[in-house]
Amino acid sequence: MGNMTEQNLANAVLEKLEGAKDPRFKQVMTSLIKHLHAFVRETELTEAEWLTGIQFLTATGKKCDDKRQEYILLSDTLGVSMLVDAINHRKPGGATETTVLGPFYVSGAKDMPLWADIAGDAPGEPAYVSGRVLDVGGKPIPGAVLDVWQTDGEGFYDVQRPGGNEQYARGRFTTGADGRYGFRTVKPVSYPVPTDGPVGKMLLGMGRHPYRPAHVHVIATAPGYDRVATHMFVEGDEYLDSDAVFGVKHSLVVDFKDHPAGPTPDGGKSAAPFYTAEFDFRLVRA
Ligand code: BEZ
Ligand code: FE
Repeated sequence: MGNMTEQNLANAVLEKLEGAKDPRFKQVMTSLIKHLHAFVRETELTEAEWLTGIQFLTATGKKCDDKRQEYILLSDTLGVSMLVDAINHRKPGGATETTVLGPFYVSGAKDMPLWADIAGDAPGEPAYVSGRVLDVGGKPIPGAVLDVWQTDGEGFYDVQRPGGNEQYARGRFTTGADGRYGFRTVKPVSYPVPTDGPVGKMLLGMGRHPYRPAHVHVIATAPGYDRVATHMFVEGDEYLDSDAVFGVKHSLVVDFKDHPAGPTPDGGKSAAPFYTAEFDFRLVRA
């Protein structure tokens, strides 16, 4: 019979892993138990604090359903999602960097032709986003697919609107022989991550704001190349240095240039002022 003390408890639990069959499971659990026990010893957690933690995790679970994933939001806001992303997507120099996927991706967005308007009736300032999909050597990749989604000009994704049935500000584009893509949209704006759950309370307690800098999400895929889930961030956004989910990478910040009413990059004409943004994606061979 063991005589459990502050000093030997972690080892007593670790010894229980001796029968674990899966070596990776054993490795992950060993590390988790070591760090968890070290955290409790270091902070000398009170019973009340321990219970607060349990209640927080319970509330986080209760906030999850098929549309809302509060645990992923917790991981995002603690920087864990970006750490996992960094470890799993180490890229050679020049390749487009990855960033957090976020909860608002919807698979099966409509396939659209070059320069299609993804925004529809969504509120916002017109913007034309274009560029090429290239390999790291600069060769165009034909047949690459860009799955694009973003907020409207009021900071809402279509799925966040009451009802949320009408799809907007998302679409899929396939590059031609020259690797080019282009679409019309509205300029995205910064917006808060959901704050009506336990993670919102945690941010408040930490003295943190919940905002993400304005961005367009893109998943770029092409046969024979690694998939890239990334963003184009809007240069000059006030939250670029304090993204609530730590997702900003300098290489992904894009200049949204403003233009007066007049000719647009799709060969048309805009009666209102508009923005243009250009960004090339550089994919790595699988
Ligand atoms: C997003 O960019 O859509 C997002 C990412 C992480 C948490 C919440 C939203
Ligand atoms: Fe987003």
